[in-house]
Amino acid sequence: MNVLHVCANPKPTEESVSKQLAAAFFGKMIELRPDIELVNVDLYDEKPPFFSYELYKRVWYPVFDAAYKPSKAEEMAMNYAAAQAEAFNAADVLVLTMPMWNFTVPAIMKAWMDQVLCPGLTFKISPQEGVTPLHKIKSIVLLVASGGVYKEDDERDALTRQVRSAFGFVGITDIEIVWADGQNPLFNMDHEQRKEMAIEAASEIAEDIAELELETTFGAFGEE
Ligand SMILES: Cc1cc2nc3c(=O)[nH]c(=O)nc-3n(C[C@H](O)[C@H](O)[C@H](O)COP(=O)(O)O)c2cc1C
Repeated sequence: MNVLHVCANPKPTEESVSKQLAAAFFGKMIELRPDIELVNVDLYDEKPPFFSYELYKRVWYPVFDAAYKPSKAEEMAMNYAAAQAEAFNAADVLVLTMPMWNFTVPAIMKAWMDQVLCPGLTFKISPQEGVTPLHKIKSIVLLVASGGVYKEDDERDALTRQVRSAFGFVGITDIEIVWADGQNPLFNMDHEQRKEMAIEAASEIAEDIAELELETTFGAFGEE
């Protein structure tokens, strides 16, 4: 099983609740499936570029114009996106670790999504077939921490909506969420219990993911 872990948090693990969820998740996962191929992308170690006009031309012009020939600059503008897309397309499971910032994903995570979710890289798009995935990701595990407490379908929560919509567009609808909310100690006396419960949930989700049956062992249609 190939797992791609993308982390958007500048803090060390001992200060970051979402990174502690990731530590619990991968601790259990590696215990149960020592054979997993894990690729870690720490977005603060290697920062994604913002989406550029050159990247826009390189990935979207071919959708509309079969005769388009990229310039050298347009070709180079795709370097980061292409490398990340390769890791994305090799993954069976995507794990996203992040805090909630201003009610949504950190900007660095959004920058990564803008790079990776491009036509010709992780999906194809045509009027006849709509959007066709080029990846084989079965599930996303979203590990998130927030200062405030959020009820289900809370209208302030733009984070889980962002993740569901963006990855749903490329055909990934199975999203398991572990959310340590209420982490602001000023307003939540029970922040420690909330964290411990989320850490427990991260470990349980790892057990479910470890049991995933993947078609990839024998190919989608049973061939070697
Ligand atoms: C820049 C910034 C913006 C934040 N915005 C929100 C927010 O919109 N809603 C919220 O509930 N908490 C917000 N918080 C609090 C964090 O989500 C909270 O501290 C969480 O535990 C961070 O995750 P971490 O411990 O993994 O870093 C914000 C914190 C920072 C630093």
